[in-house]
Amino acid sequence: MKKIIYFVAIILLVSCKEEQPLATLKSKDNLGFVADSAMVVSAKEEASSIGLFILQQGGNAFDAMVATEMALAVSYPFAGNLGGGGFMVYRKADGEIGSLDYRERAPYLATKTMYQDKDGNVQPEKSMFGALAVGVPGTVAGIFATHEKFGSLPMEEILKPVIALAQKGFVVTEKQNNTLARYREQFLQENKDTILFAKSYNSGDTIKNPQLANTLERIVQNGKDEFYGGETGKKLVAYLQERGGIMSMEDLKEYQTHWRDPIEVKYNDLKIISMPPPSSGGIVLGQILKMLESYPLDEFGHNSLKSIQVLTEAERRAYADRSFYLGDPEFFDIPVETLLSDEYVSGRMDNFSFEQATPSSSISYGEIPGYESDETTHYSIVDQFGNAIAVTTTLNGAYGSKMFIEELGFFLNNEMDDFSSKPGVPNMFGLIGAEANAIAPGKKMLSSMTPTIVEKNGEFYMSLGSPGGSTIITSVLQTILNVEEFGMSMQEAVDAPRFHHQWLPDEILFEPRAFEAQILDSLTQKGYNINEGESRIIGKVDAIKVLPDGRLEGGADKRGDDSAKGY
Ligand code: DON
Repeated sequence: MKKIIYFVAIILLVSCKEEQPLATLKSKDNLGFVADSAMVVSAKEEASSIGLFILQQGGNAFDAMVATEMALAVSYPFAGNLGGGGFMVYRKADGEIGSLDYRERAPYLATKTMYQDKDGNVQPEKSMFGALAVGVPGTVAGIFATHEKFGSLPMEEILKPVIALAQKGFVVTEKQNNTLARYREQFLQENKDTILFAKSYNSGDTIKNPQLANTLERIVQNGKDEFYGGETGKKLVAYLQERGGIMSMEDLKEYQTHWRDPIEVKYNDLKIISMPPPSSGGIVLGQILKMLESYPLDEFGHNSLKSIQVLTEAERRAYADRSFYLGDPEFFDIPVETLLSDEYVSGRMDNFSFEQATPSSSISYGEIPGYESDETTHYSIVDQFGNAIAVTTTLNGAYGSKMFIEELGFFLNNEMDDFSSKPGVPNMFGLIGAEANAIAPGKKMLSSMTPTIVEKNGEFYMSLGSPGGSTIITSVLQTILNVEEFGMSMQEAVDAPRFHHQWLPDEILFEPRAFEAQILDSLTQKGYNINEGESRIIGKVDAIKVLPDGRLEGGADKRGDDSAKGY
């Protein structure tokens, strides 16, 4: 069984990867794109341009969030979505911070063992493909919650350029063309029919999505209820029920977003503000940074043997905690304060030595006294008023469940795979979970998405985040360290080669051909398992940083079509 899961996981991980020739990545000495007042960095030029346009119309970062999120749904259907969910972390110009959880949740008819057969074996394809894989989408509720609380322009004005983009079409890039070609067969298989994105395209072609334009027009007219009860909602539910799904109108009508207090962690002179549960991002990132703080990483050097070792060991320990303690806080009591306390975190590295790897088999979640057990995309925006946001949004796998509602013009997520289908059995990212992340009706599945804002000396300093499943957290981590410890510009920090460890499987994943052979040999000698396979992505970070003179520098990851726009 384990073998089958591993095999499916590899296929899915390949499927989550965009085309990206990974020649040796060498950091550049120059800055990325620089702007004086405002910036949007996202996975697609059209989306960055529309976000920027809204800022230039006098809109704020929250208006631009709505526009960018929807423009990604049009021009980057790989992960941009109406049929998925996400998280936003914000810091307003006056220093107020917060976060919005618009994560999908399990339909009311979901059960703990719904992906197991009668003998208790997990059937991984059921949580990854088809109608049962789909969680109740949160994205439309997310843009309305953001707009209601902080928006300044009318929704109609914000969505106008997005609707025009869906009508006029977006130009297919070479990378997009490659991913579309790779999934064509799966689109046909899952939809039992051809769909807009299953046609044969070439790079440079234009894809128009008039059905999505119509859906967005109805959303402008009828508001959030159009999706959570109106014509769009009814068509969505009918589509899923015809295909054996369990989502009902009640699921849509009762879907809820949550404004949550972000996770705040100090690291040197930085304050890291990141996503709390149901994302594991903020807690795991915070734990790793706290474990690292006492080591002189700047002296060890970027991607040096010692730096790789100490990061790996901290990651191993934090991901072990993730597997046991983290899940939806509405359903499971999470010991957040203890997990991030100095006392608990410092003790976790006690058994680490530079001489020898700590095997993951000897590491479990830490003991907490008195505790009772029981394809994604990121964008960052800074506006001309000084508000900053970091947003990560997802369908989970590339094009989600691959199910596309032709009439409505969008893909549906396969986020149910982020639950733990059975304790100890890995999901498509190889992540293991326990009771905390077991399936329950109306529960939100645990995420790794890590939209993050960094303050330096009390001022806004960086906004960043990444796709990449389990590798999101370590990609965000390394990008922050590249700036803070290794003095890189934002663009250099984003482009620098990355590696990743997640406790289980017990291996360090390296970007291929980007690390010195001698360092990899030394790691092997010390007992580390090395994986330099081609199949995995290690994040695709989009970020913004404030330069010493107050201007903004963008970091648009060169691994994708990512684009920074500003003025
Ligand atoms: O929420 C999560 O952690 C995952 N659903 C994210 C998926 C992802 O990043 C896919 N991208 N490659």
